[in-house]
Amino acid sequence: MTEARASPTVFDARAAAQLERMYTSPQVVAQRAGFRELLAAQPGESGLDVGCGLAHLALELARDVAPGGRLIAIDSSEHMVNEARARVAAAGLTDSVSVRQGDATALELPDASVDFVAAAQVYSYVPDVAGAVAEAARVLRPGGRLAVLETDWDLCTYESADPLLTRRVIEARARHFAHPHLPRQLHRLLQAAGLTLSRCEAVPLIETRYDPDSFGAGMLPVARSAALKAGIDAAEVERWVDDIRSRTAEGEYFFATFRFVLVARRAERGHR
Ligand SMILES: C[S@@+](CC[C@H](N)C(=O)[O-])C[C@H]1O[C@@H](n2cnc3c(N)ncnc32)[C@H](O)[C@@H]1O
Repeated sequence: MTEARASPTVFDARAAAQLERMYTSPQVVAQRAGFRELLAAQPGESGLDVGCGLAHLALELARDVAPGGRLIAIDSSEHMVNEARARVAAAGLTDSVSVRQGDATALELPDASVDFVAAAQVYSYVPDVAGAVAEAARVLRPGGRLAVLETDWDLCTYESADPLLTRRVIEARARHFAHPHLPRQLHRLLQAAGLTLSRCEAVPLIETRYDPDSFGAGMLPVARSAALKAGIDAAEVERWVDDIRSRTAEGEYFFATFRFVLVARRAERGHR
């Protein structure tokens, strides 16, 4: 298991603005569609979205479980909870979605109370990830499923004039996560929580054209700030960012990152 790292991300208004930009990019919209397909939420089901952030996924899941379904969305950040609540209200979904402040490692829900748990890009921030997965397993009804989406930060890159500097910048970004390589460890964690893996799929985000509204471009300010905090020389960092942003000619730009979706089930009653 990776150890918990320093510099945890603070999910405040600034982080929310960055998240909004990246999570509305075509790449992440497509990724959510793929994640929902694997989770396969059904009308009438009840679900929990752990670490709901700005509720992009929660709002889509609420529509998947309609009619008759219910969604609980929790997040540990007060700022995110307020934003998510406002978005749920604006979407007219307050009857079917309840947004609460709470922690992934101490879910305020009864045992066996939901059909599914979704945790997208959340567990990598949680130092006690084994505790969080165990909590998700606890609240799943027998036969229910947990779907987790996570990034392996070793599998993230940009084409740049200085590949070694790219590695250092990406590693600086990765250091803000408690578990930057969580996909590799998830199968073991799911098993330890008594769940059985049913799907494990890669979700690549690949960009071959510079587009300021893409995920890769949206990550540049986040990567820059992580690199500066890690003590990489400011001039080097600016050179790196400028190089990538200047790659607007056909064939010059390349960004890729790999995320993974793992779906695991709790055994039906009477089965192991
Ligand atoms: C990158 S965002 C992902 C948001 C959302 N899952 C999505 O895919 O749109 C991570 C979110 O996890 C939340 N978070 C981090 N640690 C948490 C914890 N221990 N319990 C609950 N939420 C947590 C953060 O506040 C943040 O809103």
